[in-house]
Amino acid sequence: MTDQPPIRIAVIGSGPAGFYAAGHLLKDGVGGHSINLDVDMLERLPTPWGLVRSGVAPDHPKIKSVTRVYEKTAAHPRFRYFGNVTFGEHVSREDLLEHYHAIVYATGSPSDRPLGVPGEQLPGSHAATEFVGWYNGHPDHTHLEFDLLSAERAVVVGNGNVALDVARMLVLAPDELAPTDTADHALDVLAHGRVSEVIILGRRGPAQAAFTNPELRELGELADADVIVDHDELERALAVADPQAEQDITSRRNVEILRDYATRTPKGHHKRIVLRFLLSPAAFLPDEHGRLGAVELIRNELVPAPGGALRAQPTDERETIPAGLAFRAIGYRGIPLPGVPFDERSAVIPNSAGRVLDPDSGAPLPGEYVVGWIKRGPSGVIGTNKKDAQETVDAMLADLAPSSAGERNGASASAQERSPAHVPSTPDPAAVEELLRSRQPQLVTYSGWEAIDRHERALGEPAGRPRVKLTRIDELLHVAAAEQP
Ligand SMILES: NC(=O)c1ccc[n+]([C@@H]2O[C@H](COP(=O)([O-])OP(=O)(O)OC[C@H]3O[C@@H](n4cnc5c(N)ncnc54)[C@H](OP(=O)(O)O)[C@@H]3O)[C@@H](O)[C@H]2O)c1
Repeated sequence: MTDQPPIRIAVIGSGPAGFYAAGHLLKDGVGGHSINLDVDMLERLPTPWGLVRSGVAPDHPKIKSVTRVYEKTAAHPRFRYFGNVTFGEHVSREDLLEHYHAIVYATGSPSDRPLGVPGEQLPGSHAATEFVGWYNGHPDHTHLEFDLLSAERAVVVGNGNVALDVARMLVLAPDELAPTDTADHALDVLAHGRVSEVIILGRRGPAQAAFTNPELRELGELADADVIVDHDELERALAVADPQAEQDITSRRNVEILRDYATRTPKGHHKRIVLRFLLSPAAFLPDEHGRLGAVELIRNELVPAPGGALRAQPTDERETIPAGLAFRAIGYRGIPLPGVPFDERSAVIPNSAGRVLDPDSGAPLPGEYVVGWIKRGPSGVIGTNKKDAQETVDAMLADLAPSSAGERNGASASAQERSPAHVPSTPDPAAVEELLRSRQPQLVTYSGWEAIDRHERALGEPAGRPRVKLTRIDELLHVAAAEQP
């Protein structure tokens, strides 16, 4: 450590990417490189953890236990948390550049992607991101309604893990749901839901699916639902060789799991999940009340695309499936932050190894960095963000202390690739807190979040649930305010 005043870093967003970045900074920055670093994390919601709280399925509590790692980071004496602060509303990029040596954008990909198919906006047709936010108690989605009480068949478009989460949540037995932290408003509706068949649609084949093996295998182990795969449709979708997929162990195992499903005799559960392939929605069709009544599908064939992958090409074959609910689970999308460069095409902040790039000159912007989905797009599992954040932190340390930290980290950026250091005019921790409190008097500190956490856990305890989530901002602020300075 040195006697120099600390280098001050603002991390925007408190999901896995933001927390891994903060963790690396506090560990590498202080211990490894003789630089004192202070990290302030700004978060739009009163609560931290991003998609670990509001994206990971409630029946996956082990995945959520990763927050213990983030709690250790939050307990670091050089870490501060400011929740309920919206970047671009309560504080601007320019404000932060006045107070911090560096900003790390970690805002993820909060939006959904449309399919661009007629009828997509009909009542009953939803983005999976909204449904996921709703059952997880995200305050932005609490008010939404999903008509699970009259629809009997749901179609889920997409062959990724979000599609599997959505399908599973729709058919979980009340006993499987009861011990989870599913938001209370959703718990009731899901437990009484009438959906008995969920059809998951892949536009390509099983070898090209983005599922991971444990998640696909889990579908075959549900208490209340059979998993159905038609042998002929599966083999037809595997008929075109895919050398890339054959090299991929996850893809090969997915195919084995699906072939096993195709041999199974249904156990006679009253719910079923059907996996179908080489099918894309061509139109969402209304019923006589103007709600979703059916999905018209078009059959695809696999043809080589430039680069060696196989792409889905529509044929003339069509079929229509009656369905009262549809969820598009075709990937998340990043949204621009006010004043920060954004690449509309890939929906990420343009960057080189985490250094934000000026879109005009292509040069790194001094003092601006990016991690996680808003850096690389919505891919990978939670742990992927650890390595991703390390790359950005290495780049930042190389910029801050080019002759020492960079070399030790092996961050071999040339002088031109490096971002020049940014010098803030007011690197004062008290001044920035005063500014934030003047803009957002209902600031939530980490002790405010700890009060929320204790409160939610206490509510869940009598029923053996990990927590009962507070889902409205006013409730969250009320509980936080009772215990924070
Ligand atoms: N339990 C877990 O570990 C877990 C849970 C949830 C999410 N995640 C991770 O979070 C990330 C995001 O998951 P995700 O499921 O949203 O995305 P994803 O893994 O990227 O899957 C998106 C799926 O949508 C399909 N798709 C895209 N555009 C389409 C279109 N126009 N029509 C039909 N299908 C289309 C894709 O097919 P193509 O391949 O043909 O493009 C792909 O099958 C992934 O990395 C995922 O593994 C992990």
